[in-house]
Amino acid sequence: MLLKKHALVEKNVFLLVLGIFLTVIVGGIVEIVPLFTMEQTIEKVNGVRPYSPLEQAGRNIYLREGCYNCHSQQIRPFRDEVERYGHYSLAAESMYDHPFQWGSKRTGPDLARVGGKYSNDWHVAHLIDPRSVVPESIMPGYPFLANRDLKFDDAAAHLSTLRVVGVPYSDEQIELAVADLHLQATANEDYDDFLARYPNAATGDFDGNPDRLTEMDALVAYLQVLGRMVDFTTYNPQLNLR
Ligand code: HEC
Repeated sequence: MLLKKHALVEKNVFLLVLGIFLTVIVGGIVEIVPLFTMEQTIEKVNGVRPYSPLEQAGRNIYLREGCYNCHSQQIRPFRDEVERYGHYSLAAESMYDHPFQWGSKRTGPDLARVGGKYSNDWHVAHLIDPRSVVPESIMPGYPFLANRDLKFDDAAAHLSTLRVVGVPYSDEQIELAVADLHLQATANEDYDDFLARYPNAATGDFDGNPDRLTEMDALVAYLQVLGRMVDFTTYNPQLNLR
């Protein structure tokens, strides 16, 4: 019975076009409508905050150098992944990422929780020459990062641009962007106000060269915050929602 009707659709081009049209419309609606409710869909989680200006600068270098070509930043909720990398990634953990870095290419390990796994010195040695700390590594070296001064005079503009796409930077955070960036990468300062703006941020000299603020400082600061905003020792999916 159905097959007979199908023959009718196949022989009548107008019915066929109408059918295709309806299918595409319904499919399109199903895909597009949920995007309008994204604001409500991503649950906010305690601890997730916008990146500090230095971390954000490091993130830009991460994108510029194409680290995402070999590294994902999304731990999937499967046992093998959770045992290797830690708690599976929450949607909220990348809600301020523009663009997100989930990825599916893993020539190297997932980096979603690499923050705090190694010391700053390890990261610097590894980025300069990966084989010096992981002899079998096939990762390319990025020694030039340690010799390039970080360009940061546009830090405030950068944060306000991110605010346009929904990252909730305050006026104060934007105003203090350059100062905060400098402060975070300087050792032995008074960080109290800064840490109130960016809780849990790593501070100090990251690249082992206190005289210069280099791209290496920024990239290591970024790597050290990855996956560290949410405290998973106390995280409870029911209680931690804001
Ligand atoms: C050609 C692929 C490739 C590229 C590009 C690449 N990596 Fe890697 N990365 C690897 C591989 C393979 C490993 C595992 C071996 C090792 O630790 O060196 C790795 C390991 C790492 C680790 C240690 C992770 C862990 O949990 O042990 C970090 C951190 C890292 N990469 C950061 C970066 C950053 C930052 C960039 C961009 C500047 C980058 N990688 C670019 C392939 C790559």
